[in-house]
Amino acid sequence: MARVALVTGGTRGIGEAISVALKAAGYTVAATYGGNDEAAHKFRDDTGIHVYKWDVGDFEACKDGIAKVEADLGPVDVLVNNAGITRDGVLHRMDPAAWRAVIATNLDSLFNMTRNVIEGMRNRNYGRIISISSINGQKGQFGQANYSAAKAGVFGFTKAVAQENAAKGVTVNAIAPGYIATEMVKAVPEEVLKTKILPLIPTGRLGEPEEIARCVVFLAAEEAGFITGATLTANGGQYMT
Ligand code: CAA
Repeated sequence: MARVALVTGGTRGIGEAISVALKAAGYTVAATYGGNDEAAHKFRDDTGIHVYKWDVGDFEACKDGIAKVEADLGPVDVLVNNAGITRDGVLHRMDPAAWRAVIATNLDSLFNMTRNVIEGMRNRNYGRIISISSINGQKGQFGQANYSAAKAGVFGFTKAVAQENAAKGVTVNAIAPGYIATEMVKAVPEEVLKTKILPLIPTGRLGEPEEIARCVVFLAAEEAGFITGATLTANGGQYMT
């Protein structure tokens, strides 16, 4: 039986490429999305991948949603915490809603999702938790106090949960993408992208979603069982840790 992989925010952007790559690698994939029905339905029709709609910032919604995925497809062996949003703005003008929304979707979601699959993984002595952080959680980013804080939190979560579950065959890792050609990056003002970001990327280009997806497939594999608590960085050389 194919292993089941659940990808949050798995119908658009980097998440879409991750869902498609995991399916190609032989997994049965479930992709969640938060709001864009049209994109999700097109994705489902194009790829044949199962889609589910819930808010990853809401613990009960995650609990119910995961129960439904497991009833439909079987126990989740691979969880990819990918869903993320931006509400960019300098801190001295940021309102509480912009802070809360980003922390809820980008960081609370790790607890909400992982908490609801981890007991099953421990009982089965197998699991892969892969969370998508960001270069901006590693280095900080002007205009992203909320996003940088959430993405930095991903690393602490990963290292703690990796320790707790290593003896149970469950690995927990993070991926730190740089600037990838998705709608999220295209939303950055063009002048800022051209003058403040692109010149800092030694490869001279944005990354492609598929370049992050292959990192996920690598960490999801059974053969990656000795890698845990790690961060796999893919940023075109923009920031070297
Ligand atoms: N470093 C230093 N100075 C910067 C800067 C930077 N990265 N970005 C902007 N500034 C400066 C501007 O040059 C400007 O300076 P002057 O007033 O001297 O001209 C000043 O800050 C204000 O800039 P804006 O006019 O752009 O101000 P704003 O309030 O309208 O917007 C902002 C500020 C929201 C931070 C905007 O510049 C922005 O969106 N920046 C991009 C932030 C970013 O990189 N987001 C990443 C999104 S992609 C993502 O998050 C995915 C991922 O994981 C990588």
